[in-house]
Amino acid sequence: MTQTDTDTATGTGTGTGTGTGTDTATATAAASGAAATEQFRGRRSSGTPGADTQRVDTLVTELLTATHDIIRRHEVTYEEYNALKAWLIQVGEDGEWPLFLDVWVEHVVEEVAGKTREGSEGTIEGPYYVPDAPALPADATLPMRKDEAGIPLLFQGRVTSVDGSPLSAARVEIWQADGAGYYSQFAPNLPQWNLRGTVIADESGSFRIHTIQPAPYRIPTDGACGSLLTAAGWHPWRPAHLHLKVSAPGHQLVTTQLYFRDGEYVDDDIASAVKPALILDPKPSGSGNDHEVTYDFVLDRA
Ligand code: DHB
Ligand code: FE
Repeated sequence: MTQTDTDTATGTGTGTGTGTGTDTATATAAASGAAATEQFRGRRSSGTPGADTQRVDTLVTELLTATHDIIRRHEVTYEEYNALKAWLIQVGEDGEWPLFLDVWVEHVVEEVAGKTREGSEGTIEGPYYVPDAPALPADATLPMRKDEAGIPLLFQGRVTSVDGSPLSAARVEIWQADGAGYYSQFAPNLPQWNLRGTVIADESGSFRIHTIQPAPYRIPTDGACGSLLTAAGWHPWRPAHLHLKVSAPGHQLVTTQLYFRDGEYVDDDIASAVKPALILDPKPSGSGNDHEVTYDFVLDRA
């Protein structure tokens, strides 16, 4: 990632939070961290495999050895060691572990997990998925406010199996930030299911989703992750994106995100989750300032 001063990265008209945590209408690190932690814990309770002692030994030993090597190579001081200790304590107190891990670690886990899939490219889930969003028909408008800001976008496509056969009644779960970069259920004052839905494709696997183009997303800067950004001189932005989970019976679910060509931060995502195959190029659709884009999903067999 490039070394961009956080102060210079705020001029996009998005992410209106001041980072002071004093404005109750602002998404704070503590509030979105707590909501993400609760979501994660709620979904994890089912079916977590037991740990394999040998595997834990190998992975933790190698993690520690890599850490020891870094300390020796860079002659890390007690001052730096104590700064790390204080920062790790703060990440926990701020509830920011889900945010930290999904921004700086998940992309490599996803890379490994997706290596053997032939179908559509996946990318990170991030911390803001909520299961069981309202079911919607194949041609649907996502729940949104009457005056929802942002360029109207028709996102349409088809879901097929790797052999090209249509997957009738495939589920296209979609969630996204609004025109100010905020996610419902993780930022205050948004309707519960704003810009979230479970679209059921038709018998030919086709779907048409009417939504708005989201804004770039700024990870919370008022907590421990924000301190890291400042200390390292990194910017806090993710490019505008749609999140998706696409699934069908007998097929592997794909978790992915779609970005927008020439969008800010597409080439410099703080979460390193952009892949060339995931960049959309919406075109004006003729009516007003609406845009539309087609993206087809291909699912591997289970
Ligand atoms: C984070 C937020 C996102 O919207 C995303 O897609 C990935 C990570 C985060 O704040 O950690
Ligand atoms: Fe996101």
